[in-house]
Amino acid sequence: MSSIPLITENQIKEKIQELAGIISSDYPGGLTACGVLKGAFIFMSDLVRSLQVPASCDFVKVASYKGKASSGKISLELGPSLPTEQKKILLVEDIIDTGLTLSWLKDYFSKRGAEVKICALLDKPSKRKIDISPDYTGFTIEDYFVVGYGLDYNEEYRSLPYIGYLKE
Ligand code: IMP
Ligand code: MG
Repeated sequence: MSSIPLITENQIKEKIQELAGIISSDYPGGLTACGVLKGAFIFMSDLVRSLQVPASCDFVKVASYKGKASSGKISLELGPSLPTEQKKILLVEDIIDTGLTLSWLKDYFSKRGAEVKICALLDKPSKRKIDISPDYTGFTIEDYFVVGYGLDYNEEYRSLPYIGYLKE
């Protein structure tokens, strides 16, 4: 399979500068950025380096079981290591698709006393199963299965510097 470029390295760079500027002015006192592993690791590292305010960094990893039933069951494989109570937490995710993952995580952090917002590099609104939208979105895309810049297909393609879709 080959990957056809959809969003270039330069477009990603420019978008991150734009997002980082907005996020920095929304959080003048700083924030805790919490990346969702593994897909968000590259976006997270570029985003936090572009912020103009102090950012603590944390990570979580979720396991989602998407069986035949439409509602994927989600559990935490790795929880946050930093305190959540009264913290301003920005969930940093590669892509929002059905919305189940981020809605579950938002709930998880809210229940633990955090003020939670979401930053997703990509948004695929066409497959949403829950009414949720990111507070900060990089690119809204059609219903492509995309890879690169952290996103994988069976653990391949994460290291591509651009975002592409797969073609047989
Ligand atoms: P959601 O719970 O359906 O919103 O799932 C979001 C997660 O599914 C993301 O964090 C990705 O790991 C994965 N995912 C959804 N769409 C894609 C895609 O097009 N490429 C790669 N991973 C995807
Ligand atoms: Mg992910």
